[in-house]
Amino acid sequence: MSAPLTSAAVDALRALTPGTRATTHFNHAGASLPSAATLEAIEAHLRHEAAAGPMEAGVAARAQTERARTLAAQLLNAAPAEIALTTGNSPGWGAAFAALPRWQPGDRILVARHEWGGNLAAMRLHAQRAGASIEAIPSDDSGAADPQALEAMLDERVRLVALTWLPANGGLINPAAAIGQVTRRHGIPYFIDAAQAVGQLPVDVAALGCDVLTGPGRKALRGPRGTGLLYVRKDFLPRLTPAWADTHSAPLGADGEPVLRADAARFESAEAAKALHCGLANALQEALEIGLDAIRARIDATAQALRAQLAAIPGVSVLDQGRERSGLVAFDLAGHDPLDVQRRLAAQGISIGSNGVSYTPLDMNARGLGQIARASVSYLTTEAEIDKLLDSLRALARRR
Ligand SMILES: Cc1ncc(COP(=O)(O)O)c(C=O)c1O
Repeated sequence: MSAPLTSAAVDALRALTPGTRATTHFNHAGASLPSAATLEAIEAHLRHEAAAGPMEAGVAARAQTERARTLAAQLLNAAPAEIALTTGNSPGWGAAFAALPRWQPGDRILVARHEWGGNLAAMRLHAQRAGASIEAIPSDDSGAADPQALEAMLDERVRLVALTWLPANGGLINPAAAIGQVTRRHGIPYFIDAAQAVGQLPVDVAALGCDVLTGPGRKALRGPRGTGLLYVRKDFLPRLTPAWADTHSAPLGADGEPVLRADAARFESAEAAKALHCGLANALQEALEIGLDAIRARIDATAQALRAQLAAIPGVSVLDQGRERSGLVAFDLAGHDPLDVQRRLAAQGISIGSNGVSYTPLDMNARGLGQIARASVSYLTTEAEIDKLLDSLRALARRR
């Protein structure tokens, strides 16, 4: 158990984060603010590339790539050989999905209602067009995917269960481990999109029972944009043939035949942004040092406080479902277009997010939502920042 994050500890972490002095950031679910040390790790490598030559500097950076892999494995309770470093959440998820055996007419994919739109696009392009169906797992009365309902849907044609653990359009947390118990019992491949979870709460791939799990570097982990993690369970790896290969992932042997790497790096390529690996390694180290229990506790307390105060503003509806909730707070301000709310807050130096239907189409359509405003917190978020956001929203609410 990590030490709780006190306000003094948060102040110290903010002092090491340049962005906290420049902006009031409530878009950590879009991308969070990196520390000065993460920035320096990136810049130092770019300087080294410029001075020594990028290929020559790359030799020295290999250790940082492997450090990032080892730290990511530690973060997810996996082995380093089960981790590929990617360029975002979708690149990892999509690469693993495209590596599955060919889809057949009648195959079934079961997804929770909160599935990320990009994953649905990949499924529709490659599986549905081949004759597979994509079906939604019913939600329970809290809006979360229902493991019992999932179990009732299973038959021998179900070839994949895909879950977006923490949805992009609200604070709900899906019961990822309970769903993993069902998929494991029935031997069905299980993919988890953990884009909003990695760096926000403890992630234990063994406890989740998943075969594939993905996360980006830039969100709760506070790593650089253009980085991501792909976990593939060791015994699942032989079932995945990457859609493309290169000299790193499948070098040609003496006989001219490709030799596919035995580890998850079969999803990497020879060319990579080494500077970003250096930054990612630093961000991973920082998250592990703070401790994921402490991060989760702080984010939960902050988001709960924000939700309660938001709900007290006349005209504001908090749209979060679920019994257990994340640091993402979705809301609507009556009489105001969420995109306009986002723009007006931005003019005051406050960043929030706003999502339309296409990011989470099944859930948005099921709930009759068109666009939502989204304030997402970090362990860096302070009461003063919450007060500033609420004051601005109160002023907006009066202008109806
Ligand atoms: C749940 C979820 N999945 C996937 C993504 C896409 O991640 P990326 O842009 O890194 O591919 C996001 C981005 O917001 C997300 O919230």
